Amino acid sequence: MQFPDVAWWQKGVLYEIYPRSFQDSNGDGIGDIEGIRRRLDYLVWLGIDAVWLTPIYRSPMADGGYDISDYRDIDPIFGAGPGFDRLLTEAHSRGLKVILDFVPNHTSDQHVWFIESRSSRDNPRRDWYLWHDPAPDGGPPNNWRSNFGGSGWEYDATTGQYYYHAFLREQPDLNWRNPEVRKAMYEVLRFWLHRGVDGFRVDVLWLLIKDDRFRDNPANRAWQPNQPDVDRLLQRYSADRPEIHDVVAEIRNVLDEYPDRVFIGEVYLPVNRLVSYYGRDMKGAHLPFNFQLIFATWAAAEIKRITEEYEAALPNGAAPSWVLGNHDQKRIATRVGASGARVAAMLLLTLRGTPTIYYGDELGLTDVPIPPKVVQDRWEKNEPGFSRGRDPARTPMPWDHSMNAGFTTGTPWLPLNDDYQIRNVTACLADQGSILNLYRRLIGLRRTYPELCFGRFATVYADPDLLAFERSHGDVRWLIVLNFAHEQRQFHLPPGSPSALVVLSTCLDRENEHVRVALQLRESEGLILKLLP
Ligand code: GLC
Repeated sequence: MQFPDVAWWQKGVLYEIYPRSFQDSNGDGIGDIEGIRRRLDYLVWLGIDAVWLTPIYRSPMADGGYDISDYRDIDPIFGAGPGFDRLLTEAHSRGLKVILDFVPNHTSDQHVWFIESRSSRDNPRRDWYLWHDPAPDGGPPNNWRSNFGGSGWEYDATTGQYYYHAFLREQPDLNWRNPEVRKAMYEVLRFWLHRGVDGFRVDVLWLLIKDDRFRDNPANRAWQPNQPDVDRLLQRYSADRPEIHDVVAEIRNVLDEYPDRVFIGEVYLPVNRLVSYYGRDMKGAHLPFNFQLIFATWAAAEIKRITEEYEAALPNGAAPSWVLGNHDQKRIATRVGASGARVAAMLLLTLRGTPTIYYGDELGLTDVPIPPKVVQDRWEKNEPGFSRGRDPARTPMPWDHSMNAGFTTGTPWLPLNDDYQIRNVTACLADQGSILNLYRRLIGLRRTYPELCFGRFATVYADPDLLAFERSHGDVRWLIVLNFAHEQRQFHLPPGSPSALVVLSTCLDRENEHVRVALQLRESEGLILKLLP
């Protein structure tokens, strides 16, 4: 099989960087753009194709930069001046693409649009946000909750109305039914596309349009007190409204004005709804992020179920997406343990579709406990005691065993992993058996063998512990066998395949082993085999 002539994001591997935590260059303890530039060679070595940077725009940082006060400027903590253009040029010269975050659902309350909007009821920008009169009892206009806990409505005494915020009160929601809002936001996209960015990951895409009548959301009868406050209600009227698809198509149209740009959507919805974000006639998001692996129970039978469900739901010709972790979720190594994280890496990089790696997962980094006094994440502060906080998965990248792991010469904004003396890039590079070298090998195989990217996907076998699937094209058949159990397992090659060659083990120590009829897998071992005719 030849690599088909498809867009770069269909054959590439994406890598998410949380810029605050990647590399500090000026000693303020916070990662920055210059830091990322200095680490480009590492990313090239790893073999990824594109980086997605979470927001770097000007922001009061109430929500780690997801509260933007100027969409066309870069926040000084990430580095002012020509640094971003330099990063872009140097990334491009190394063959790396750069994807930015686009946060259209809400601005910061410090954005000039909101300052104007809240100044009076007849301000021309009043309707740019979602303002409503109080309920007859003076309370909020309806029962909608904020995703970070509490009512989604904030009373503003100046004008005697409430505004809606799906997240923090410092993040007022824009009114995407207003054509001027759309126009202004599309101009923001063009501004960065013109500057040369290779696409966007669009934040909370499924939340942009709300019910036109602002009806109350129904109660969620399955809600348990240990679940987030927002889940008390089903988000029937505050999310995934039919009219969203007009916006999705319009965003895509803007991206299509420029060659070769990617539109990725953050969409937390069940698979049958998620796939609608590919758009009518596939003119929507190129890659609606698929988060199934994040929420899956870590068992072979469950992985079989979700992969088959997804494959069946995908519209014809849609590019699949797989994500193991991101800056909002517990890290994979925390969810499934150290050896599980290796199996997960093999799974991510052998499934059909574009994989997204979260920085640090290639080192097997785990969540870092954050002492209450240094908690940064406002969600944790709003709903303390439930481990809602996302700081543990956002800690600095450990580069070496020097002070602060080579991340900063100052005081890191969040603590480092306490095993950074041994779990860091330099140490993992030198250790032939490290998970980092496994990631690199897996990415390399994907780049070399098109069947691993584009071949047909078919489950061959699954029981609670063992999953085997094939990736094939014509006569070329790859078999991936993953043992989720903490004990050895035997696996029989599929009928008609008397022998196979081990191409890679998650333990990185049994290549070129010839297998006949049956295969022994060690505990938590994954294997990539080439079936021999
Ligand atoms: C997205 C981001 C998350 C942020 C939220 C509000 O879910 O990934 O980090 O807090 O949107 O912008």
